[in-house]
Amino acid sequence: MKMADLVHLNFEVLAVIQRLQIPFGFKDKSVQTICEDNNIHVEFFLQLVQWFNERENFPQEQLMQGKAEWLVNYLHHTHQCYLHYQIPRIEKEIEDLEQLPGLSDQSAHLMVNFFREYMREFTAHIEDEENTTFPYILALSKTLSGQMDQKAFNLRYQKYSIDKYLDHHSDLEEKIFDLQSILLKHLPPPSNNCHFTNLLLEINRLGNDLKDHTLLEENVLIPKARQMEKELKTKSFNQ
Ligand SMILES: [Fe+2]
Ligand SMILES: [Fe+2]
Repeated sequence: MKMADLVHLNFEVLAVIQRLQIPFGFKDKSVQTICEDNNIHVEFFLQLVQWFNERENFPQEQLMQGKAEWLVNYLHHTHQCYLHYQIPRIEKEIEDLEQLPGLSDQSAHLMVNFFREYMREFTAHIEDEENTTFPYILALSKTLSGQMDQKAFNLRYQKYSIDKYLDHHSDLEEKIFDLQSILLKHLPPPSNNCHFTNLLLEINRLGNDLKDHTLLEENVLIPKARQMEKELKTKSFNQ
């Protein structure tokens, strides 16, 4: 199948394409050719696409068969998009609310403060994954494949395990619901309905996307890391 035809079937798939850093300008190239040209494992790409097309069928088992590096790469680029594009856009819109006539100071403060607090939490969550969890998982994978020395790995991560990450892994999407409630309750009668509707829809979209993101982290990345931890233990036991 041609890549352009695949996108025409469901434009949401563009998110997968962006997160795997596949450049646009597909011409008439097939999915297979484009994946190969960009060093993307075609099965991994198709599993994600299939999930975007059939939401009720989450390919957990199949995704767990893939390399940890593929998933970390996908999640890393998703983080970049949140931090450098989606969140700043919503932040700007929410800050604009402060200037609105007809909105009480109290309501404006409530909305802006809630969002700023959320952003702090959001950024800390992502930084923890980028600086600690993802490097740990990549090191685990490298050690298993022999690209990293096992002693060096054990020394670096003697106090860390994937369960530490899971213990404090919070759901970023829950607070999105609170933000939506605050906005719905406190926005003044809008003079520009289109503007606020778009803002609310954009926040809703981010919330849904964060649900997917958490699903990948908790149902694929964590079990995959746990599986690798076990393999490494068995390997060191047999040495
Ligand atoms: Fe994440
Ligand atoms: Fe997370």
